[in-house]
Amino acid sequence: MKIPRLTTKDLLSITDLSRDEILQLFRLAARLKADLKMGRNHDLLKKKSLAMIFEKSSTRTRVSFETGVTQLGGHALFLSGNDIQIGRGETIQDTAKVLSRYVDCIMIRTFAQQTVVDLAENSRIPVINGLTDLFHPCQALADFFTVYERGDDLGSIKFTYIGDGNNVANSLIQCAAILGMRMTVLGPSEFKPPSDIVNEAMRLAGESGAEIVISSDIDKDLAGTDYLYTDVWISMGQENDPTVQQKKALLSPYKITMPLLQKCGNGCQVMHCLPAHRGEEIDDSVLDSERSIVYEQAENRMHIQKAIMCALMR
Ligand code: CP
Repeated sequence: MKIPRLTTKDLLSITDLSRDEILQLFRLAARLKADLKMGRNHDLLKKKSLAMIFEKSSTRTRVSFETGVTQLGGHALFLSGNDIQIGRGETIQDTAKVLSRYVDCIMIRTFAQQTVVDLAENSRIPVINGLTDLFHPCQALADFFTVYERGDDLGSIKFTYIGDGNNVANSLIQCAAILGMRMTVLGPSEFKPPSDIVNEAMRLAGESGAEIVISSDIDKDLAGTDYLYTDVWISMGQENDPTVQQKKALLSPYKITMPLLQKCGNGCQVMHCLPAHRGEEIDDSVLDSERSIVYEQAENRMHIQKAIMCALMR
């Protein structure tokens, strides 16, 4: 089994990876997925331990990482931020130095990207970003792996993200820019992805040949979409923000409904990282339709994360 040799110690954002490294991870994920379906498991992480720190809720990330490492012969520890000493003020630096002496890798879901950076800088072992307010790299890799395994040419398809310019959108933009894809981000100007993320993606696109479009114009820029992606409008931690209702009103034209889907290309597939707020950013009739590939995406979290863990812990 060919395990990618990555130049990075950690996966903190998609920009830690090159195009070639991402494609190598896709190939390994496809092989691990196919072998699992044939009943063949590989002890690639035998006796390895993964610490999973969660300062936010999770279903997919927690279960897919824990199951994935177990399938590879390793072991995962679930560490709730409230239960470990981080919750009582122990520094992330001390946490990093201590965990480095026990386990082989840390996956963390937290708020600030700087927390993940500090954790990685003070760890002797790899650190994987399992979601911050800024990025969700494992999600973006699972999503484009889902497109890749369907046999589509990543350089030819039109991929459109519609809605809030959030952490998932940021990682998708970075990944599309590195892979040389055509990606459009559609949403109200108030909720576009941050300009530093977009500018960096444009720079990467200049190297890869990617085409990144940021727009608010549904009628002009939805046409020809092969994959239409959305995420919740109110991310974890924003629920009590006083501007929530105003944000929802501005985003309402960007809700995925059947009429909106009909403005895309024929056979356009619908994606969502889940959990969905059904009836808010996407209608049930779309999410539960044959156009939806959301459960393939969710499953692929596990397969791509197995590949990521193998590559980082090799
Ligand atoms: N998409 C995602 O990260 O799901 P969870 O929040 O359930 O982990």
